[in-house]
Amino acid sequence: MNSVPKTFRVKSFGCQMNVYDGERMAELLGADGLTAAADGEDADLVVLNTCHIREKAAEKAYSDVGRLRREDGSKPLIALAGCVAQAEGAEARKRSPMIDMVVGPQAYHRLPEMVADAVRGARPVDTEMPAISKFDAFPKRRRANPSSFLTVQEGCDKFCTYCVVPYTRGAEISRPWTDIVNEACELVESGAREIVLLGQNVNAWTEGDRGLAELIRELDRIDGLERIRYTTSHPADMTDSLIEAHGEVEKLMPYLHLPVQSGSNRILKAMNRSHTAETYLAILAKVREARPDIALSGDFIVGFPGETEEDFTATLNLVDEVGYASAYSFKYSPRPGTPAATMEDQIAPELMDERLQRLHDRINTHQTAFNRASIGKETEVLIERRGRYAGQMIGRSPWLQSVHVETDAVPGDVVRVTLAAAGPNSMTGSLITKVAA
Ligand code: SAH
Ligand code: SF4
Ligand code: F3S
Repeated sequence: MNSVPKTFRVKSFGCQMNVYDGERMAELLGADGLTAAADGEDADLVVLNTCHIREKAAEKAYSDVGRLRREDGSKPLIALAGCVAQAEGAEARKRSPMIDMVVGPQAYHRLPEMVADAVRGARPVDTEMPAISKFDAFPKRRRANPSSFLTVQEGCDKFCTYCVVPYTRGAEISRPWTDIVNEACELVESGAREIVLLGQNVNAWTEGDRGLAELIRELDRIDGLERIRYTTSHPADMTDSLIEAHGEVEKLMPYLHLPVQSGSNRILKAMNRSHTAETYLAILAKVREARPDIALSGDFIVGFPGETEEDFTATLNLVDEVGYASAYSFKYSPRPGTPAATMEDQIAPELMDERLQRLHDRINTHQTAFNRASIGKETEVLIERRGRYAGQMIGRSPWLQSVHVETDAVPGDVVRVTLAAAGPNSMTGSLITKVAA
């Protein structure tokens, strides 16, 4: 037997979808009578919302569990949630007996019930992917950040040969149109000024003959909502109507995160990506035609099995050709159960380190160039949080640049600024006027 928890903490790792799930679990536990533990305070229940994408992320889950042991030898109730929970199920408890509950991403609606079981001394594990939607069990949105996440799509049917997501998140599903629109309205009523639509393949969202473009056009009509973004998209689902929306929907921000992974067609094929460097570039050309000032972003994997210097050079060339405003790069990490993990010619770690560094440098050059080219532009910044100094606030430009502004505006305000000094990761903005509150 354990005592009934009064306070909880949810710690989320990995992608934005985990952040969203973490917020929803917190709301669910709140509705069940628990209170969020204050910063630095011990919680009676800790939910570790984990990520399985690379080995380091997955290992971190277990070291985090270990760190929950208190000095007096006691421990909180521990729920392992997220993609490590889904991937390892009951095995997770064998690796760490400190874990009381294992709950996969499609079973979060059962969390309160599982906590009650754990209090009675049971060790519940739920990694089912039921037809009933966890979303229906979550309470109404009552608190929102100026920029709020809203999951509209989950899962992946693409099966890139390196990736665990199709196994940890299951098949592609789209949430119903009406549920999404209602949740968006609740978020705006609760203070959201920007909504970021989320999905592992967000642009695969569909209902009947409507796609993400139609959904975005509907959200565009919500009064009080200033900005719409979406992430992460797959090149295969980048439809013409979505591209057109970038030229027509004013609230849709000029930013697109479209992962390519490699610039080598040989490697793209081995990865089971459905595009080539050329078809990817053709999509971006259309997007730029629709929205010339768009900021482009992407993801890259270096050191995929069999990657030669020539393949890697093709990646560097693609980076130069696109001129990304930002991009993320990762060392290939072999994941259990994925086809790439058993491919021949795995790349030596030192070579991966070296390539990652070269790719980082190249991306950084473009990122800095993009920010420098923004100097002098007059634009709007959505204030999100306080900066390090009194009077300094931090927000985002339409192109997702982090902008530091001296102003008495508060989070949720939109201010007009002239963009000034630029580093690779942030800019400063000098205030012109406050626009909307
Ligand atoms: N659905 C999205 C991305 C999901 S995972 C897409 O297809 O673009 C986020 C990023 O993690 C991927 O874009 C990829 O760059 C990286 N990633 C996924 N599996 C990986 C692995 N095994 N090793 C290294 N990076 C990986
Ligand atoms: Fe993973 Fe590929 Fe699906 Fe993205 S599209 S989640 S990289 S399998
Ligand atoms: Fe990680 Fe799962 Fe997201 S593996 S990246 S938390 S979908």
